[in-house]
Amino acid sequence: MNYRYLIIKTSEVPDAKEFLTGLEFKQYNHFAVKKRANEWLAGRYAAKKLASEFFNLPLKKMQIKNTKNGAPVLQAEGGNHLTISISHRGNYAVAAISLTGDLIGVDVEKIEPRPQGWTDQYFVKEELIAYDEAYLTELWAKKEAVLKLLGLGLTVPTTQIKILNNEVHFFGKALDVWAFKGSPKISFEMKTLDNAYKFVLAYPTVI
Ligand SMILES: CC(C)(COP(=O)(O)OP(=O)(O)OC[C@H]1O[C@@H](n2cnc3c(N)ncnc32)[C@H](O)[C@@H]1OP(=O)(O)O)[C@@H](O)C(=O)NCCC(=O)NCCS
Repeated sequence: MNYRYLIIKTSEVPDAKEFLTGLEFKQYNHFAVKKRANEWLAGRYAAKKLASEFFNLPLKKMQIKNTKNGAPVLQAEGGNHLTISISHRGNYAVAAISLTGDLIGVDVEKIEPRPQGWTDQYFVKEELIAYDEAYLTELWAKKEAVLKLLGLGLTVPTTQIKILNNEVHFFGKALDVWAFKGSPKISFEMKTLDNAYKFVLAYPTVI
């Protein structure tokens, strides 16, 4: 496996002061909505816990910043950097690290009903081989994970990615960025958590 990931429950997250740097603590206190602050905090905790396996440093000696497009980068005391991917939703936060480069994307989503308009807007017709909540949630999570791997997030329409039988096809700006990154074949690891959430990790296939 050329990646590592960590899934944590938000209930396991210790007090913010125990693992945030001073700058991160200020950021944490800036959130207007408590739920958003707690999800952000859980994402920071998952990412730092995972990175601590590599750097052998206390969590407070690592700091996570977002680039201007939102992608997270972890800086360890001493100058080391690590590209990570973070997702947080409800009871869960997840973080992933690539061991071979900077291409990694992770997403966790709650399995829940969505309106027909959502399906029509975000998916390509051929992808819609089923309409059940679990299938659509996982497909959505795959798209987000791939868009994070490319560093795009939702700055492009999700229809610029088409996933058929776990094979990813790219269009528009997503295609340009994917080509710029060397056109890696993408694979997925998937899990269902508590029968209520879908976890998806997207990573480049090593041939
Ligand atoms: C990436 C995005 C799709 C995630 O949406 P989401 O499902 O609501 O949230 P998730 O919990 O799954 O993921 C959020 C994490 O994705 C990561 N992320 C955000 N933008 C990213 C990007 N361009 N590339 C890779 N990862 C990204 C961040 O680490 C973020 O968590 P953090 O803010 O706590 O560090 C979404 O944030 C996005 O792209 N929004 C549109 C663009 C936008 O508003 N940009 C503003 C940037 S400041």
